[in-house]
Amino acid sequence: MTISVDLLSNPVFVLGSFLVLIIFHNYLHKQPQHGKKYHPTGASVFHLLTNYNKIHDYMTDLAIKYKTYRILSPLHGIVYTTDPENVEYILKTNFKNYGKGNYIRDMTSDLLGDGIFTVDGDQWREQRKVSSQEFSTKILRDFSSITFKNNTIKLGKILSQAADSNQIFDINDLFMKATMDSIFKVGFGIELDNLGGNEEGVRFSRAFDDANNLTYKRFVDVTWKIKKFFNIGLEAELKKNIKIIDEFVYKVIQLKIEQMQMSKDEVLLKKEDILSRFVQVNDNDPKYLRDIILNFILAGKDPIAISMSWFIYMLCKHPEIQDKVAKEIIEATNVNEEITDVADFAAHVSEGTTDKMQYLHAALTETIRLYPALPVDSKVCFSDDVLPDGCNVNKGDVVAYMPYAMGRMKFIWGDDALEFKPERWLDQDGCFHQESPFKFTAFQAGPRTCLGRDFAFRQLKIISSVLLGCFVFKLSNENKVLSYRTSINIHVDGPLQVSVSRRSGFQNP
Ligand code: HEM
Ligand SMILES: *[C@@H]1O[C@H](CO)[C@@H](O)[C@H](O)[C@H]1NC(C)=O
Ligand SMILES: *[C@@H]1O[C@H](CO)[C@@H](O)[C@H](O)[C@H]1NC(C)=O
Repeated sequence: MTISVDLLSNPVFVLGSFLVLIIFHNYLHKQPQHGKKYHPTGASVFHLLTNYNKIHDYMTDLAIKYKTYRILSPLHGIVYTTDPENVEYILKTNFKNYGKGNYIRDMTSDLLGDGIFTVDGDQWREQRKVSSQEFSTKILRDFSSITFKNNTIKLGKILSQAADSNQIFDINDLFMKATMDSIFKVGFGIELDNLGGNEEGVRFSRAFDDANNLTYKRFVDVTWKIKKFFNIGLEAELKKNIKIIDEFVYKVIQLKIEQMQMSKDEVLLKKEDILSRFVQVNDNDPKYLRDIILNFILAGKDPIAISMSWFIYMLCKHPEIQDKVAKEIIEATNVNEEITDVADFAAHVSEGTTDKMQYLHAALTETIRLYPALPVDSKVCFSDDVLPDGCNVNKGDVVAYMPYAMGRMKFIWGDDALEFKPERWLDQDGCFHQESPFKFTAFQAGPRTCLGRDFAFRQLKIISSVLLGCFVFKLSNENKVLSYRTSINIHVDGPLQVSVSRRSGFQNP
């Protein structure tokens, strides 16, 4: 058994678990409710806890047995599904009946407030509308592209030094810092300069990452509300971190509001960052602005860093694919001369050139299929319902689809489901083709589908094309098999130690 050590050493947690077992025992005797068909029982929450460190693989194995299954829990039913028809039903056909609910909102609202990730109904619709308008503007597109490129150049300079001195380094850490810098610039118009080691930036970033971590712990610790009440243990830590975050964010918001009031009219139209635009919409509610901004940081940072890390890892494990990706980049950017400076190379990367990189797009998508940033996505069922497979779900049940498990299902992808094969995303002409969003669920689907998908691919392609155009990546230990760390997102577990050398030898014909 591999129970997470820090959970087991926690008396409140252990006590809570015994409580759960007792209630659970009682619950068993209530099942099943007669006359209705339910999904087969896969396991209990206790099994999930005992398999905590490998939870996604444990749940994938269960899904191989049952496409959709129930997990017994004392609090409410939990249904996990990999069935595209069920997914389409909960995310689109009967969208109204599945949402965040109080269950998810309670756990996340200390950090995320009333941001887009935690709310339902009109509150969500309103934010979705303003946000999607914001995301579709050319101003934001251009501003964010320049930001991604600038930060990638910074990252590239660090890599150049490592290449020259043959150093091994943790690329995952660098991706986390670079993406935080980027979302800050795009979100607030501020240079956080994590990559350069700016003290305030690093302090904020650490508090944000810790708070995110601690928020996730609530999903697996039934006693969190008690701890919050007494302000002890992890809850006390969470509170401390949120204080650091809030102090910083409110300062930024205040500054922005003042700037915008001072510079009324003249510079107003030039404001490019997301916060400035929301201040234009609503400048007298700092809490509203705080929530929006923190939700954007959450949405826009970790998924990119995570996808980049797994991508580099996959390319190191498949050097022939790394070469193929690099070859396409060199061809598309039309770089003929030997380039030794990252900024010079980056000057050749534009939206026009990244649009040509279909194989890169496929390889990134293939990475996200196997390592979806959000491996499990839970909804709450608002009223009794029957899923397309004929089974019942009750009001209050948690119904979750599993992008990680779905990416590994042979009934969806064929016998080679577990293999890393970018080609599966290309048609005969080598053009990328989309899969049904109810099969490839990494970005969710339906009305609440990821708002930042294009934004994400633009960023991933800019980072990848500059870094892979300039460097060859190798794992410091080629035999290492990387695992994930159980958290809300599928972070790589531990550092991702690599070395780089300057790429040469690709010449255009
Ligand atoms: C590889 C990168 C990404 C992946 C895999 C991804 C995946 C997802 C998923 C699964 C959801 C649904 C979450 C939920 O149930 O609440 C979501 C929602 C969202 N994503 Fe992304 N995302 C990525 C990048 C981004 C980026 C870069 C942004 C923007 C900065 C972004 C903005 C959003 C927003 C605003 C929502 C909320 C949509 C709503 O509730 O209406 N995402 N994303
Ligand atoms: C990007 O870098 C250039 C050159 O250093 C600088 O002039 C520009 O202001 C930067 N833009 C952004 C959005 O970071
Ligand atoms: C999050 O928690 C994990 C262990 O639970 C730890 O290894 C990791 O360093 C934490 N990350 C941050 C940024 O606090």
